[in-house]
Amino acid sequence: MAEPSRTVMLLVTFMAIFTLSRIANAETLGTIGVNWGIQMTHPIPPKIVVDMLKANGIKKVKLFDADDWTLSALVGSNIEVMVGIPNDMLDRISKYSHAKDWVKNNVTQYVKDGGVNIKYVAVGNEPFLKSYNGSYLTTTLPALQNIQKALNEAGHGDKIKATIPLNADVYASSSNTPSSGSFRSDINDLMVQIVTFFKENGAPFVVNIYPYLSLYQNPDFPLDFAFFGTGSRSINDNGKQYTNVFDANFDTLVWSLKKAGVPNLKIIVGEVGWPTDGDIKASPSNAKKFYDGFLKKVAKKEGTPMRPGALDAYLFGLIDEDLKSILPGNFERHWGIFTYDGKPKFPMDLSGQGKDKYLIAAKGIQYLPAQWCVFNNEAKDLSSLAADIDYACSHGDCTSLGYGSQCNNLNSQGNISYAFNMYFQMTDQDVRACDFGGLAKIVNRNASQSGCLFPVQIISAGTRIALAKAMFLSLLVAVLLFV
Ligand SMILES: *[C@@H]1O[C@H](CO)[C@@H](O)[C@H](O)[C@H]1NC(C)=O
Ligand SMILES: *[C@@H]1O[C@H](CO)[C@@H](O)[C@H](O)[C@H]1NC(C)=O
Ligand SMILES: *[C@@H]1O[C@H](CO)[C@@H](O)[C@H](O)[C@H]1NC(C)=O
Ligand SMILES: *[C@@H]1O[C@H](CO)[C@@H](O)[C@H](O)[C@H]1NC(C)=O
Repeated sequence: MAEPSRTVMLLVTFMAIFTLSRIANAETLGTIGVNWGIQMTHPIPPKIVVDMLKANGIKKVKLFDADDWTLSALVGSNIEVMVGIPNDMLDRISKYSHAKDWVKNNVTQYVKDGGVNIKYVAVGNEPFLKSYNGSYLTTTLPALQNIQKALNEAGHGDKIKATIPLNADVYASSSNTPSSGSFRSDINDLMVQIVTFFKENGAPFVVNIYPYLSLYQNPDFPLDFAFFGTGSRSINDNGKQYTNVFDANFDTLVWSLKKAGVPNLKIIVGEVGWPTDGDIKASPSNAKKFYDGFLKKVAKKEGTPMRPGALDAYLFGLIDEDLKSILPGNFERHWGIFTYDGKPKFPMDLSGQGKDKYLIAAKGIQYLPAQWCVFNNEAKDLSSLAADIDYACSHGDCTSLGYGSQCNNLNSQGNISYAFNMYFQMTDQDVRACDFGGLAKIVNRNASQSGCLFPVQIISAGTRIALAKAMFLSLLVAVLLFV
């Protein structure tokens, strides 16, 4: 049972979620949104995140599902929301009755007066990525059609549009110029059907563009071309000059849409950003450089050579996600503009005026006790050490230890301690998780060293739900006992 002060705080937090606060409707075109993913062991309580979004003037979020805890926190905030349907649900949604249920439970339920300001439903997430081997090729379009139909039938169709966030790998250019771009030949017919459907329904094309990945995947890629306005390199495409890969990539899509017969289809950048750790080029300074250039570009309503004007974009991502797959690389868990505990990582001016100031951190984060799990240097039998580190790192997140990362300069003891601590924190500091047959011990002295943060985990959304439930039950018991 929690002590009284925390109990009161939890009650307040809990009730605040149901308190509807209204904010005047604001124009969100050309303003910056963020991707709010929650693939993390310790999600920050959503209400705190929503307050952080408001404090920073962020008016649009893109979600990857329709998680009730998240959507409930957005009620009354007037923040514009894109809710998502994960790829593994596409098969189900390709049956109309299921699409109808989905809309009823995950849209209609929330949009009631003063509810959640849902504007888009993202059907799948990059479903045609080459690495998915075509798993979603037959189900995605039917799912899209079903969701839009269900939205229309439920009376939301005018306001809420179904779309599909697609990776930029759905199109390519044959000669490295945007004008030679077209949809990938293996999916061209399908893409034409999809973009025609978007046009008929007033839905936008949502594309994820990653200059960082161009750089990461190709060692010969010119560094400056990944940023904005810093390099001398330029591509001339029939008189149009390209000085950065973002514009070139975006306009390859513009040309692909032209060739598919929908030259004026609205485009939204669904994900764009730069990671801050897990690779030599993933650093706070490079991320700052990228965002500075990008945000200025958006503020100036510069657009691209083929599409001058306002640009709609969602940054990726809001907060680091320590459960993301690291198959693409260790940087995957470091895309956040905020750390796991809601602190801004580098100066960033969302208004694009280039002011050297930090975003406002999350308020009201509660931490687990200030203790760490480290290598016990009195241990005698080290025979299981390698296996223990493997175990700790396969459960906890060791992606900051690798080459070029924040914690790469630790000595070997530091490495071991880091692994043990990440596992220990991940388990909510369970004492059994800091044993490893006597190789590990709990300490109260901050174990962070030489520029490497040894984090202390936060009390998470999940923990709070459990505490709130426990508290509610004990209140109930108390009430029952006294009447
Ligand atoms: C959305 O609706 C479907 C269908 O009713 C349901 O199975 C699902 O759990 C709901 N919630 C989310 C987060 O998708
Ligand atoms: C796709 O195919 C490759 C090679 O055959 C395989 O390694 C991978 O696991 C497959 N991925 C999916 C999502 O099926
Ligand atoms: C620490 O671990 C990282 C990642 O496994 C490795 O690259 C590095 O060489 C290790 N350092 C020492 C001193 O063992
Ligand atoms: C531990 O030290 C690091 C580096 O000085 C600091 O950033 C962090 O906030 C400290 N952690 C705690 C719980 O005091």
